[in-house]
Amino acid sequence: MMIRPEKPGDVGAIHSLTREAFKDRPYSDGTEHFIVDRLRDAGALSLSLVAEVQGAVVGHVAFSPVELSDGSAGWFGLGPVSVLPSHQGQGIGGALIREGLEMLRGRAAAGCVVVGNPELYRKFGFQNDPRITFADCAPQYFLTQPLSSTLASGMVTYNAAFYGGVDG
Ligand SMILES: CC(C)(COP(=O)(O)OP(=O)(O)OC[C@H]1O[C@@H](n2cnc3c(N)ncnc32)[C@H](O)[C@@H]1OP(=O)(O)O)[C@@H](O)C(=O)NCCC(=O)NCCS
Repeated sequence: MMIRPEKPGDVGAIHSLTREAFKDRPYSDGTEHFIVDRLRDAGALSLSLVAEVQGAVVGHVAFSPVELSDGSAGWFGLGPVSVLPSHQGQGIGGALIREGLEMLRGRAAAGCVVVGNPELYRKFGFQNDPRITFADCAPQYFLTQPLSSTLASGMVTYNAAFYGGVDG
């Protein structure tokens, strides 16, 4: 398995695998593949990594900038992260998340936030921090991870691409 930044030829595969990964998940509204497309179109796909197995793209993770109400710079949101159902449970999603966080550290990012299953994201260093909040989900599903020593507090706003509807 190889993890690498997306290339122009990966766009279709990323769209399909994201759709397949989230299909029928009870917490999904079935639009995550459009979010990735809109982030890219908006120039807000700060980091887009794919996992390739035997020449096929089977996993993907997106990171995009988020705003903090205290004006803190250098914060990113993780997600969507997706692995094709046939390849889940083999360490691919975890490798994508770890590599993405490592690359953000390399870019001197201040921190990263994520919305999702706390059990999953705690494995990668995310925690609930009442100082950093997000209005659109229950607090237990919003986790953060500082990547620098800079303190931040406030409300998080994701890129508008996360709210753009279903038609891409
Ligand atoms: C979530 C997802 C990306 C994980 O990818 P994966 O390749 O299956 O995960 P990995 O095999 O790397 O597992 C990494 C760790 O997370 C755990 N894990 C994986 N999915 C989990 C889940 N849904 N809930 C809790 N823990 C989970 C694994 O047990 C593993 O823990 P371990 O290292 O202690 O054994 C993948 O299951 C997926 O695409 N799901 C559908 C889309 C989705 O839900 N995305 C996340 C939205 S919050």
